[in-house]
Amino acid sequence: MRIRAITVAGAGLLLVAGTVGAAGIAGCGGPEGKRARTAGDNAALGKRAQQRRAPAPPPPRKIDCVRVKCVSLTFDDGPSPYTARLLDTLKAGGARATFFMLGENVQAYPDVVRRMAIEGHEVANHSWSHPDLTTESPAEVRSQIQRTQQAIKTASGVAPTLMRPPYGATNAQVGRAIGMPLILWSVDTLDWRHRSVSRHTKVGVKEPAGGGIVLFHDIHKPSVDAIPKVVDGLKKRGFTLVTVSELFQGQPLQPGQTYTERIQKTEPVTAPAAPSGGTGPSGGTPGSGGTPGGGDTPPSGGTGPR
Ligand code: NI
Repeated sequence: MRIRAITVAGAGLLLVAGTVGAAGIAGCGGPEGKRARTAGDNAALGKRAQQRRAPAPPPPRKIDCVRVKCVSLTFDDGPSPYTARLLDTLKAGGARATFFMLGENVQAYPDVVRRMAIEGHEVANHSWSHPDLTTESPAEVRSQIQRTQQAIKTASGVAPTLMRPPYGATNAQVGRAIGMPLILWSVDTLDWRHRSVSRHTKVGVKEPAGGGIVLFHDIHKPSVDAIPKVVDGLKKRGFTLVTVSELFQGQPLQPGQTYTERIQKTEPVTAPAAPSGGTGPSGGTPGSGGTPGGGDTPPSGGTGPR
């Protein structure tokens, strides 16, 4: 695309320079190396230098969440003006998190999204504009997903592999249209309702169990304000804070299925014994019903332990 822009700005000679790429422009000889640089060249050089400087996102860490006590903090509906501060907190605490983002907000904060990826967080899809997808046509669902995928990829260089439907509202048709694993949660902090730092801290530290997924929203200031103590408290309880993909390492996630937590096959040292039963795919059952609750409430029949 960038090469086309150069050829439009210039003539045949520039076409040669444009297609040679960075090496040609850097001066590998030839007639095009002698000519004066144009504004278009400088812009292209600047972009390339920027790309060279930007570090690549690190790969997921190898953490065995079957044996290690893991929890995933997830943040929905952003990015927002508070998200950069949240990234500072997570960095200071050595924690990784997952961000389920709205495409329309990704467009507004592309640098924050880029930083998430570089710092090892998971960038994930939460639709473009937060509709209840169970009331939309499959074509509109696909559009909501694909536009957001593109926005996140453009901002961060990374294409999400996970999706969280707004309100946790899904059904079989929505699952098929989305075509990605659907990640819900095992702990709903209800931070959108209460807006209390002390309450968020208490819930965020005390409620998660091993393999859990905790729902916060980084569009609310009290939520972001609570995270330093949530991270500290969870670490003191022996948790490793991982992305959702890290949480499910070794357990392949299926497109269109919903997951609320990772069911641990062997209990970590400090966790209580799991309830009996354990049938069905570990990590949640496929979307049941998919009736949206008020606010961000998982579909009825939630399989979470609390
Ligand atoms: Ni949401």
